[in-house]
Amino acid sequence: MNRPTVTLKLATSLDGRIATGAGESRWITGEAARGEVQKLRAAHDAVLIGIGTARADDPELLARTIPPPQRQPVRVVLDTEFSLAARGRLFETLDRATLLVIGAGDGDAARRKALEDAGARTAAVARGPLGIGAEAALAALAEHGVGRVLCEGGGQLAASLIAAEVVDRLEWFRAPMVLGAEGRPGVAALALSSLADAPRFKRVALRELGPDIWESYERVS
Ligand SMILES: NC(=O)c1ccc[n+]([C@@H]2O[C@H](COP(=O)([O-])OP(=O)(O)OC[C@H]3O[C@@H](n4cnc5c(N)ncnc54)[C@H](OP(=O)(O)O)[C@@H]3O)[C@@H](O)[C@H]2O)c1
Repeated sequence: MNRPTVTLKLATSLDGRIATGAGESRWITGEAARGEVQKLRAAHDAVLIGIGTARADDPELLARTIPPPQRQPVRVVLDTEFSLAARGRLFETLDRATLLVIGAGDGDAARRKALEDAGARTAAVARGPLGIGAEAALAALAEHGVGRVLCEGGGQLAASLIAAEVVDRLEWFRAPMVLGAEGRPGVAALALSSLADAPRFKRVALRELGPDIWESYERVS
């Protein structure tokens, strides 16, 4: 399959949570870690999130580096039914970066048109077990000229990319706090039946960033 390389970024508590049970996630990691995330964005052609994160966080997903990148990454939302509201920060910043909403081929045509009328680009691909098929979404990104994509969550999208075995690199920022089992998991259910089936990664770097730890991993193929 022709697909971009996939980097999955996670910013979690020590126990792997990306938000409290109520959905609060700003900020788990500190300023230095968030600065590195901006550089990661600038180094990728696209930044990818699930509709759950778009709704919960109303993010801009711009690379705020100094100096700014020559070209902002394309902001991509996986949104099976094209249900993203055509307002909020992703739309307010359309003059600075492209927004691409990827939904299902049989998704709501009227909503898709409303997103396009508001300035977003859209693409329709095949459904998968959890919304949009991960491989189909990545193939669509390759067609849009994306060679490197940075996925910034949430937990469900992270799980489906890991389950599809398309995560080439993990950038894991870990903050010294514990959110407990009611917190939202950085990686949602993988339906593993045994330890032998667990996806494995090889650590290639480990740094301190103020109070946080930044670990980089590559896929073990
Ligand atoms: N700490 C951090 O850095 C950080 C980063 C990101 C998010 N968060 C937090 O994470 C939470 C959101 O995470 P989430 O897991 O609920 O949502 P999510 O992963 O952002 O989005 C999940 C939704 O995306 C759609 N989708 C389409 N194709 C998919 C696919 N192949 N795999 C998975 N989902 C697909 C599905 O909705 P449809 O079927 O309707 O399309 C699915 O319900 C928020 O609380 C947010 O604040 C934290």
